[in-house]
Amino acid sequence: MIKSVGITGIGYSVPEKIVTNADLEKIVDTSDEWIVERTGIRERRIAAEGVSTSALAAEAALKALADAKLSPEDIDLIIVGSASPDMLFPSTACLVQAKIGAKNAGAFDLSAACSSFVYGMSVGSQMIATGIYKHVLVIGAEVLSKIIDWQDRNTCVLFGDGAGAAVLSEVEPGYGILGIDLGADGTGADALLVPAGGTRMPASAETVANHQHFVHMNGPEVFRFATKVMGASAIRAMEHAGVTSDEVDWLIPHQANTRIIQSAAKRLHVPMEKVIVNVDRYGNTSSASIPIALAEARDQGKIKKGDTLVLVGFGGGLTWAGCVLKWSKEE
Ligand code: UT7
Repeated sequence: MIKSVGITGIGYSVPEKIVTNADLEKIVDTSDEWIVERTGIRERRIAAEGVSTSALAAEAALKALADAKLSPEDIDLIIVGSASPDMLFPSTACLVQAKIGAKNAGAFDLSAACSSFVYGMSVGSQMIATGIYKHVLVIGAEVLSKIIDWQDRNTCVLFGDGAGAAVLSEVEPGYGILGIDLGADGTGADALLVPAGGTRMPASAETVANHQHFVHMNGPEVFRFATKVMGASAIRAMEHAGVTSDEVDWLIPHQANTRIIQSAAKRLHVPMEKVIVNVDRYGNTSSASIPIALAEARDQGKIKKGDTLVLVGFGGGLTWAGCVLKWSKEE
């Protein structure tokens, strides 16, 4: 029998260090005015030296487990989405498994850039819906600050570090994940990438000198793509769920740019009062942005049992992912 699957615990972790737009004005030729006007970002969190993605992921995971009132041994599977993993391999998920002591869990990374968390929810939920597993931990985690070119104003002002985690488990019928939409367009792979360090362009002194081990992005191309797919993916997930715009209580979009978020909300006919936005305080935390926004909104008491949530992301790949969720937690 196919079971209903939802989020039974969530948590997030962001580094303490705040870097403001004024701080960035001292590093690159930019201004607080430009960054706020074009992106909505005012500050971001940056991990300390020696703090890697798995560390933030483990902190978020332990909070999500406490929220779900589960222990690490209860987890059957860990899925980590990250564009900034600790290493090429082993997976960051395996490092998280060791850090939190989830000794009964399988573990793997899922690579869909900023869309990874929703991709991960869709994969993890299937394992529970079919009765194979009981509890799956899905994590979006990034320490992008360590793979960003701090001399490139086109990218360094945009990104931040952080992690968000969700425990997926069986929930009451009618609650949990109601609709999913996943998509990709690999022909746009070169619009947002880290060119070197893999097998296509192995790391060398030359690639390092050319800054090819850092994030490169064609901003306007990604912007056009994002405004096209965000609304479309959310609509497909809503159709899959049988949910209309006026039934949406909260839209929780990937936090890349307020202009992109506003355009998606408009397309979906969801007023901005029903949209969770925290890009001003955290910047773009890629795969972590949706679970951080969700966890923060829940902690602020905004999300109530029975609320209909639409989660939607887009990112490198190019990829996109939408999900409709009926919130099942009491508090
Ligand atoms: O998670 C997915 C990842 N990425 C995204 O979602 C990003 C999507 N793209 C965007 O959000 C926007 O394209 C950006 C915020 C990145 C850029 O905004 P834009 O309105 O598309 O600006 P632009 O790239 O067309 O650049 C406009 C001008 C250029 O100067 P010129 O050529 O007109 O003289 C840029 O060189 O702004 C300049 N510029 C900057 N100026 C000050 C670019 N970055 C900066 C900066 N500070 N940080």
